[in-house]
Amino acid sequence: RLRSVVRGCGSYLPADVLTNEDLSKTVDTSDDWIVQRTGIRSRHIAAPGELTSDLAIGAARAALADAGMEAGELDLIVLATATPDYTFPATATTVQAALGITHGFAFDVQAVCSGFVYALSIADKFLVSGQHKRALVIGAETFSRILDWSDRTTCVLFGDGAGAVVLEAQEQPGATSDRGVITTHLRSDGRHRGKLFVDGGPSSTGAVGHVRMEGREVFRHAVGMITDVIEAAFAATGESADTIDWFVPHQANRRIIDASAQKLGIAPAKVVVTVDHHGNTSAASIPLALAEARADGRIKDGDLVLLEAMGGGFTWASALVRW
Ligand code: ACO
Repeated sequence: RLRSVVRGCGSYLPADVLTNEDLSKTVDTSDDWIVQRTGIRSRHIAAPGELTSDLAIGAARAALADAGMEAGELDLIVLATATPDYTFPATATTVQAALGITHGFAFDVQAVCSGFVYALSIADKFLVSGQHKRALVIGAETFSRILDWSDRTTCVLFGDGAGAVVLEAQEQPGATSDRGVITTHLRSDGRHRGKLFVDGGPSSTGAVGHVRMEGREVFRHAVGMITDVIEAAFAATGESADTIDWFVPHQANRRIIDASAQKLGIAPAKVVVTVDHHGNTSAASIPLALAEARADGRIKDGDLVLLEAMGGGFTWASALVRW
């Protein structure tokens, strides 16, 4: 059967690093507080004039190089972001143009922190339909642009960055050893939209707005929602905490990651953690973590990788991918 096989992945981080120590000079916080509550030590911040599309293009080029593929071989770009360059056109079309692609199509997906898993799932549907052959799936964010830098309850949590994977439709035997995207599960419940949102937008205020969050409420729902979509993935495939090789969760908060892994019975050694040096990069966090774990040799060909994310909306999602 046709599967969306991962041919390559890559990432791009802005050069500037902001440490907890740096933050403690501008808001009433401390390295101790941030590390204890979140596990975050530092995050990358885009330079003035460095746009989400710039980060996305960097990640796209790295992923194409990893795949040994030319941009012209792509026929689909799906870019997940909550911080697009402009209200429109889609940031994905800027990436498409920068890569010199004039065929196929490109569009953005908005599911905040769950955006990459949504985008992966959408691209997978196009590829397994047989109508499209190769897709670039990107998560790219400049959350630094929508933070209220005087609000210590949110500004310490986020960072900027981008990650990307290249998928290719390939025939697989239809066995448990199949490579590629094995299953995806997407969920949302808009009743929770007021718990994590940006207080601006083109149709409401006409301004960009800032991130607002009821942190405790988000925390309270996160672990249950994450385990819900992961249990759905396990039920659909017969896989389990024991059969997966790697757990690559959305990197929001160390405590959420640890509590989810513990509840699911996933061994700590299988958990990929980057939140300490990336902060929460929203839709970019999973492909950033994938690129890191692939580059340092942790994720090997044939490994079964479990992805999950949860964020504003609320949205939440999981994916099982055999590398
Ligand atoms: N530095 C120092 N003190 C702080 C800071 C800070 N950066 N931020 C808040 N505080 C204070 C608060 O003002 C409060 O003080 P008070 O008791 O005098 O009122 C105290 O610390 C405790 O605040 P809480 O909000 O209750 O702290 P909590 O233990 O819940 O931790 C946190 C806050 C880290 C945000 C936590 O709720 C959390 O991780 N929530 C999940 C949110 C999240 O990860 N969101 C990311 C986006 S969603 C996603 O990607 C899944």
